[in-house]
Amino acid sequence: MARIVVAQRAGACYGVERALSLTLEQAEQAAGPVHTLGPLIHNPLVVEDLEARGVRVTDAPEGAGSGLLIIRAHGTTPEVIADAEARGLTVLDATCPYVKKVHVAAKKLVDAGYDVLVVGEAGHPEVEGILGHAGHARVVGGVEDVRALIDADALGKKVGVVVQTTQTLALLQAVVAELLACAQEVRVVNTICAATQERQQAAAALAAQADAMVVVGGKNSGNTRRLFEICAERCARTHHIEAADELEARWFAGVETIGVTAGASTPQAHIDAVVAALQALA
Ligand code: F3S
Repeated sequence: MARIVVAQRAGACYGVERALSLTLEQAEQAAGPVHTLGPLIHNPLVVEDLEARGVRVTDAPEGAGSGLLIIRAHGTTPEVIADAEARGLTVLDATCPYVKKVHVAAKKLVDAGYDVLVVGEAGHPEVEGILGHAGHARVVGGVEDVRALIDADALGKKVGVVVQTTQTLALLQAVVAELLACAQEVRVVNTICAATQERQQAAAALAAQADAMVVVGGKNSGNTRRLFEICAERCARTHHIEAADELEARWFAGVETIGVTAGASTPQAHIDAVVAALQALA
């Protein structure tokens, strides 16, 4: 029988688990309709389960009609919240407290007169939320974007920097190094959340030892796909599944150690189900 080892850090982060439990609570208690603004997490099974409990997804406040609108862990702009409230919706803000810290840091820098840059992915809902709370800030995806601003002479002398919670330290360092070459003052608030990096490091360490790896999470989840790549580089027999019923016994023929990891959008219950299925199989 194979040994099954779950990565030391795996699955939903604090902010996602928190948003999920707040939503489940409301699904039980709320008298009227309950909507989430966008899918609560990038995991189709969780979204289906929430739908079965009466929680619907809407892309914008006007789609909700009435009742409760839940803001997911990524957060949103103050304008969207104001719009929802003006439509008579009750807003439950499940923005991750670490994302809120980025909102506050960006706003403080703007108020203190810094030309604020958000290091992150343009158009990502978290980044849109940060821009909205900052009031006046710009997104840079990498060093090229900073160079373009410098070349266009579009940067102030005092530059403030915050960063999307899921970006890497290497990217932040590269951006700051580029800025230091031109700005008189660069003030950086490192708002990277450790959760993503911890999961990647733990997955890499486990994949290097395991004979086979199972990565659990939505196929549409960027961070789960990244975990899959990290594991596949170190363990050829790596499989990405969304649910326990996708497991196939032949994947584990002759293996001694099976590693399990899961993306930030995978609740603990799904990991437990996969481990139980593996115990029955391998
Ligand atoms: Fe929050 Fe970090 Fe997760 S910012 S939503 S705990 S990845």
